[in-house]
Amino acid sequence: MIRELAYLGVGSPRYEEWLTYGTTVLGCALAARGEDGAVRLRVDDAVHRITVRPGEQDELLYTGWAFTSEVELAAYVDRLRLGGIEVTQGTAEECRDRGVAVMSWVTDPWGARLEFVAGQHRRPGTFWPGRQLSGFVADDFGLGHVVLIVPDLAAADAFYADVLGFTLSDRVDEEHMKVRFYHCNGRHHSLAVAQVPGKVGFNHLMLEVKSLDDVGTGLDLARAAGVPVLRGLGRHTNDLMTSFYMATPSSFQIEYGHGGIIVDDLTWIAATNDRPSLWGHELTEAGRATPPGILHDVEAVLA
Ligand SMILES: [Fe+2]
Repeated sequence: MIRELAYLGVGSPRYEEWLTYGTTVLGCALAARGEDGAVRLRVDDAVHRITVRPGEQDELLYTGWAFTSEVELAAYVDRLRLGGIEVTQGTAEECRDRGVAVMSWVTDPWGARLEFVAGQHRRPGTFWPGRQLSGFVADDFGLGHVVLIVPDLAAADAFYADVLGFTLSDRVDEEHMKVRFYHCNGRHHSLAVAQVPGKVGFNHLMLEVKSLDDVGTGLDLARAAGVPVLRGLGRHTNDLMTSFYMATPSSFQIEYGHGGIIVDDLTWIAATNDRPSLWGHELTEAGRATPPGILHDVEAVLA
């Protein structure tokens, strides 16, 4: 089964701004640039986990999902194919670019590309954060979590849970926010899908830091750098993460948090929460003026 969110790739005209934003605000470390000039960032010993490539518009290009081994990955791909899912093998060049040994990929019902990988390259003992920071909660928990925007929650659940095998953590169900959260390791969620009728997109990437002070200093640094804070400090009902949301140079948002709970499949019960936060996470003026991430009309995507 899928074990972790291994990496994320986006395209953006403002990709070079990530050199400064990614290090001095987020605290990531720079990895070697891609052949196309892509800015690559590290959060742990993995060779890189965030890639921002040059692109004409802000675009989610792919998410990468790691398996424990090539054997596990091959069995998973066989199972998907038996279920009638089209799976494409990644090229040697793509594997080199992503820093993995092997890769296969599929697209979700709205064209989002998911890459399944094994053998991600690591360089133990070589990660130093880009700013004063106690570090990221990553390693075997993966990069963090991604929240995708989907037009139809039930269809998304049928694909992500029933076909791909993500395990439901819980749901938020309120009038203006319907979200399902999924885990693939102890992190409360590595993936969530939020319903916006008629739209497809990418809302945010969550990065978890090792102390609450890292969140506070991140908030100070974002403000000092003129990075719009879109939701103020708050604590989520489901994963108990204390976090805030900020803009990035590339339309999607970063949730920057600490203290997410660990779920244990033997005892965990998938509840429904009627609100997303215990306190805070108030939409700021900048948040009200900003679209919720990279957004496309579903008709345009499927045309
Ligand atoms: Fe989040």
